[in-house]
Amino acid sequence: MKPILISGIQPTGRLHLGNYLGALKNFVELQNSGKYQCYFFIADYHSLTIDFSPKQKEKEILAVAQSYLAAGIDPKKSVIFVQSQAPESTELTWILSTITPPGELNRMTQFKDKAQNDPNNINMGLVTYPLLMAADILLYDAKFVPVGDDQLQHLELARTLARKFNNKFGKTFIEPQAILAKTARVMSLDNPQKKMSKTLPSGCLFLDDSEKEIMQKIKSAVTDSGSEIKYDEKNKPGLSNLLSIYSELSERPVMELEKKYYGKGYGEFKTDLAKVVVNSLKSFHILNHQPSILNAILNSGFKKAKKQVVAKMKEIKSKLGLPQVSG
Ligand code: ADP
Ligand code: TRP
Repeated sequence: MKPILISGIQPTGRLHLGNYLGALKNFVELQNSGKYQCYFFIADYHSLTIDFSPKQKEKEILAVAQSYLAAGIDPKKSVIFVQSQAPESTELTWILSTITPPGELNRMTQFKDKAQNDPNNINMGLVTYPLLMAADILLYDAKFVPVGDDQLQHLELARTLARKFNNKFGKTFIEPQAILAKTARVMSLDNPQKKMSKTLPSGCLFLDDSEKEIMQKIKSAVTDSGSEIKYDEKNKPGLSNLLSIYSELSERPVMELEKKYYGKGYGEFKTDLAKVVVNSLKSFHILNHQPSILNAILNSGFKKAKKQVVAKMKEIKSKLGLPQVSG
């Protein structure tokens, strides 16, 4: 049996280049390596922790499904499903909460960031968010979890909880390992000190931006003083971010790009980069599946996911001495 790999993305609006390079692109490469049994889901329960419109939610869920397919996730090779359709992860969240000291959750960087970004909507879901994420992973017996580096702290908690549960109740869970993308942190185009994030839309290149928008955004991306095209995270963070993006999308090493643009200015570099980005994101414009097709794919994925989680929940409950559901 191939090891299981799982990851999810929240349906919270338009996906951006950070999601692509930090997550989606990596998902597809891992799927196509043929080495794993892959599950990719849409983390709709997680997404309830930030302000949302119920009318938009269904569209946002289908938009992530659409992006999965556009990126190259193939329902014949990977299981694609919606988190809330297999709600056993919320059940396991409760169980995990009983072995988690509150301090472990309050100190999480993402919780602090989100609480600071939206002080009017600090809720318990934001606090227990990493437990639901741990449950998502442990319930599927996943050995590998591809994520951007902002999720490493959460993954470490999942590992700690797996160990703790196993020590207390007997071997039940696999300790999951992160698989980091090569570009695990894409920075914002208008502030290279911050990561590109939906919460700062002005610095985002969205996957469905038009060619004109992409050209314009890259042209006005913050670069640093001087004119040399050289990777230097400390002194040239803006340019280094653009070089990483260029390198990752064109699959050419940064050194080769530095040579190509030796003696040339930022203008030419940015024009070429914009073309590379437009080309790489083409599939996000062309593919447009009908909602009925997307729903059929999600339903078929759900059936496969359900089988796995029902069996795992049985095992967990028996370890805890809880009664099984009968009938
Ligand atoms: P956002 O931070 O925009 O809300 P999500 O939290 O929904 O994005 O992230 C979905 C996936 O994309 C995660 O695996 C996360 O690590 C990755 N990701 C998000 N932003 C970036 C970024 N700027 N660089 C690299 N990966 C990212
Ligand atoms: N927390 C992840 C994010 O914000 C999404 C997520 C939820 C996830 N459950 C997961 C990622 C399980 C990997 C594995 O991006």
